[in-house]
Amino acid sequence: MWFVLIKDQKQRFGNNPLWGDGWGWALFKADAPDKQVATDYKKDCVGCHIPAKSTDWIYVRGYPVLTSR
Ligand code: HEC
Repeated sequence: MWFVLIKDQKQRFGNNPLWGDGWGWALFKADAPDKQVATDYKKDCVGCHIPAKSTDWIYVRGYPVLTSR
């Protein structure tokens, strides 16, 4: 499956349960790649991303190239 984040600094979709905390959160499964299947990022995503909260929810340590300058 594919976990997808879209940056959203403007709270463009304030009432949508898939948008918040600076991002749009989405999940696509391999057997139906044209269908977004996450329902609520607070239930489906954020719990696991709490350790990365201080870096905008992204596990930046997984990308050494970002800090290699
Ligand atoms: C079971 C825990 C878990 C859940 C649930 C989860 N994530 Fe993650 N996610 C992680 C971990 C750990 C990483 C970093 C390690 C990796 O990339 O495999 C990660 C990485 C990512 C990345 C790559 C960027 C980065 O931070 O490394 C994206 C994009 C992402 N997750 C989006 C989502 C979205 C969207 C959801 C909800 C639909 C979600 N995740 C749900 C644990 C989770």
